[in-house]
Amino acid sequence: MTGTYRAIQLQRFADTFRAGAAIVDLERRQPRPGELLVQNLYAGVNGIFDTQIARNAVDYVKIALPTLTGVEALGTVEAVGDGVTDFAAGDAVVTTRFPGGYRQWNIAPEGHFAHVPDISPEWLALASTGVSAAMALEHIGAVRDGETVAISAAAGGLGHLLVQLALTRGCHVVAVCGGAKKVDFVRSLGAHRVIDYRSESVGDVLAADYKDKLDVAIDTVSGTIFDAFLDNIAPHGRVVVGGAAADLEGRPEIVTQPRIAHKLYYKGASVRGFMNGLLAEHWPPARERVFALYAAGKLKITFDEQRFLGLEGVFDAVERLISGQSMGKVIVDLRTQQA
Ligand SMILES: NC(=O)c1ccc[n+]([C@@H]2O[C@H](COP(=O)([O-])OP(=O)(O)OC[C@H]3O[C@@H](n4cnc5c(N)ncnc54)[C@H](OP(=O)(O)O)[C@@H]3O)[C@@H](O)[C@H]2O)c1
Repeated sequence: MTGTYRAIQLQRFADTFRAGAAIVDLERRQPRPGELLVQNLYAGVNGIFDTQIARNAVDYVKIALPTLTGVEALGTVEAVGDGVTDFAAGDAVVTTRFPGGYRQWNIAPEGHFAHVPDISPEWLALASTGVSAAMALEHIGAVRDGETVAISAAAGGLGHLLVQLALTRGCHVVAVCGGAKKVDFVRSLGAHRVIDYRSESVGDVLAADYKDKLDVAIDTVSGTIFDAFLDNIAPHGRVVVGGAAADLEGRPEIVTQPRIAHKLYYKGASVRGFMNGLLAEHWPPARERVFALYAAGKLKITFDEQRFLGLEGVFDAVERLISGQSMGKVIVDLRTQQA
């Protein structure tokens, strides 16, 4: 199959994804030996990562311009290259490899794809964000059944799955999010204590009710939430750093306070970085676990109420996510163009 397809290309580094990226036409070619040609039907949106890519601020991705963009997508196999035996035309597949996402067609080595049962977008969220959540909580956070787990941005794509995964382990979940609507949502997931950082001080609530009780604290926001998690970490507790949304401007806040070494040493606690892109060898078993939990009805995917269509919709979806207003996983339906 030949012809052209559309994809979002980052053409220059810029302050916003929209300012640096444009939709381009590319040649569609036949898959080479070992490759798949896949039609993307849905793409997952990682607006904070996308914005940092646009700003050339993701340390572990060496960006040579121009580059295609987007990470995860769900689609169907159109054709397979010589030597491919595990996939066939018509299979539903998912990829979670940059830059597999914001494009109508993907041509990549078969190792970039995994089978999913069908083309329901839930599998996209599970294979990408669900696996990230499992990696952060289990692999890096080393959670044990029944522990106390704190989670920031708990109403978000990653956060709402972290909350549910922790609950499946019988954990006591302390969730942090911004705004009454999000609080209701996170409560409905079963979190035991939900802190609305817009109306309560996370530090005060934790100091009063969870002093030195957080066994695992997964933070993707930074700022005072990170400080509050660290201050209240339990003996042998693990603070997992999975992002720094509050530092999206690329100017991390400079703070002056005692070195965190002192807060960690006497408790035997640790601060651990979580970077899912560095954990690819661990994804397949994590994927199996989250798929099984979903099939058993123990994990539910919530998608943001706002719908985004076509590649044009990606720009709006990125902005929706970084506005802080989305709840659940943000995805784009690539099957239809925006009107
Ligand atoms: N390390 C990794 O490998 C990895 C993998 C996946 C995701 N992540 C990170 O995990 C976080 C969640 O990802 P997601 O895609 O699921 O996003 P998301 O949680 O659906 O959306 C981001 C949320 O972050 C919170 N936030 C706090 N300060 C913010 C700010 N200044 N600007 C924008 N948002 C702010 C907002 O919720 P509240 O206002 O309720 O706090 C917002 O809704 C992101 O920071 C992402 O980069 C990291």
